[in-house]
Amino acid sequence: MPDQFNPQTAHDSVRALQWVGEALRVLDQRKLPGSIEYEDFDSACGVAEAIRSMRVRGAPAIGIAAAYGVVLAARKRHEQNPDTWKTLIGQDLDRLAASRPTAVNLFWALERMRKIIDTGGNEPAALLAAALAIHEDDIAANRRMGELGAQLLKGASGVLTHCNTGSLATGGYGTALGVIRSAWAAGLKQVYACETRPWLQGARLTLWELDQDRIPARLIADSAAAWLMRSGKVQWVIVGADRIAANGDTANKIGTYSHAVNARHHGLKFMVVAPTSTIDWETPSGEAIAIEERDHKELLSDHFLRPGSVVDAWNPVFDTTPAGLIDAIVTERGVVLNPSAANLRELKA
Ligand code: MRU
Repeated sequence: MPDQFNPQTAHDSVRALQWVGEALRVLDQRKLPGSIEYEDFDSACGVAEAIRSMRVRGAPAIGIAAAYGVVLAARKRHEQNPDTWKTLIGQDLDRLAASRPTAVNLFWALERMRKIIDTGGNEPAALLAAALAIHEDDIAANRRMGELGAQLLKGASGVLTHCNTGSLATGGYGTALGVIRSAWAAGLKQVYACETRPWLQGARLTLWELDQDRIPARLIADSAAAWLMRSGKVQWVIVGADRIAANGDTANKIGTYSHAVNARHHGLKFMVVAPTSTIDWETPSGEAIAIEERDHKELLSDHFLRPGSVVDAWNPVFDTTPAGLIDAIVTERGVVLNPSAANLRELKA
């Protein structure tokens, strides 16, 4: 018999990040789905490495982890020297900021924590409250975006998503996958997930997460997306974001741009779901967004890594989708249809 229905936990059982008092507990996403392993990090340096190595990944989760990293750094620096800790912690903030370049949530969270350091008292206790609030607010934002996005999906029978944007990528529930969770509860029939080469966030993480929460999903190769769209089985493509420029251009996992082009060609709708912490008001358009390039070894087989080989690989792990290809940006503060610099500005606090 299934457990009694609880709307707070139904279709949402996974948590990638947990504060455990003296450390940040991280579910190692490199090992999923084969192995469920947690690792505790008790220093900012450790948290930066967890982000760099992609034990924790996904824009909101990176921001939350960094906030806890600042808490750990503050405790250590304060213990070392209660008079100079606010200066010493600068290097920890820099190290966290250097862990990955594209997800703006990282810099947003560090900025929030920096302000508390600068304006708060000499005890670092307020920083833990702030990190916990960033974590809880993210889950609340995801729940709200889930409701708003699901309303847009009324009447749709199938959706396609890319990468992993669920509980693993956020504080919990997820952005695009949160919308899919809410829409599933409201009767959505078919969820397709792209495998998301080369790191396979879709094939490994999204499928694992949906399996945990008993939401049926069907995996496709990235290269099958246009063919799926042509079949008429999906009406919406729903993705998350790592950084949304002030004009609505959106950086997200590599392959997102192709999906947007294909969606427009086939008359499908394209939805970006992200909390307002993902909007970078300082960046006017997508052209100015730093796109991370990772090691060619993520793509190139060992055979070609031998000395003397003349072939190589180019591995950009994000791309930018122009606002003109996006039908809706869903945030916790509301939905912006046909985003542009003018209408996105309405979300500014
Ligand atoms: O390289 P990753 O796995 O950190 O990339 C993740 C994505 O591109 C997600 O789509 C994005 O961060 C939104 S997650 C809610």
